[in-house]
Amino acid sequence: MKPVRNLTIVAAALAGLLTLACQKEAPKASTTGTALDMPGQGVYFQQCAICHGRFGKGDTMIAANYPWANLADTKYGHGSSRDEILKNITDGIPQTPMRGFKGALTDEELSQITDYVIAMAKQGE
Ligand code: HEC
Repeated sequence: MKPVRNLTIVAAALAGLLTLACQKEAPKASTTGTALDMPGQGVYFQQCAICHGRFGKGDTMIAANYPWANLADTKYGHGSSRDEILKNITDGIPQTPMRGFKGALTDEELSQITDYVIAMAKQGE
């Protein structure tokens, strides 16, 4: 009976270690920040937060290896003018998970989400 019990203990220890290792690797999505109460917020939470994070910090698994996924700062690698941001959201950014939202969002929604992104960037000033 003893070997079986030992095996159980080893298995439990391994499972524990594995859980710890996994927890270490997953980037922590930030729980602090300010959600912006303005038009665009609903679209942001539904369409963008899964990659860019609730507060736009780009702190998600999917965005982990992309330098420009943080929208809550003033460094915008693909252009920070309103026109450029609108274009990036409309057409997407090639070779990245950032797809274009043309057709998926109305022109009004695209305009509102652009202002929402700009407001998030301002928070990082
Ligand atoms: C599937 C994941 C994903 C979704 C969904 C997504 N994005 Fe992105 N987005 C990215 C990644 C990754 C980048 C960074 C690309 C890079 O580093 O070159 C990015 C880049 C951007 C940029 C350019 C930032 C810069 O520094 O120039 C903007 C603006 C942006 N996203 C806005 C949005 C908005 C608004 C939405 C929702 C309508 C959205 N994204 C949805 C993954 C996503």
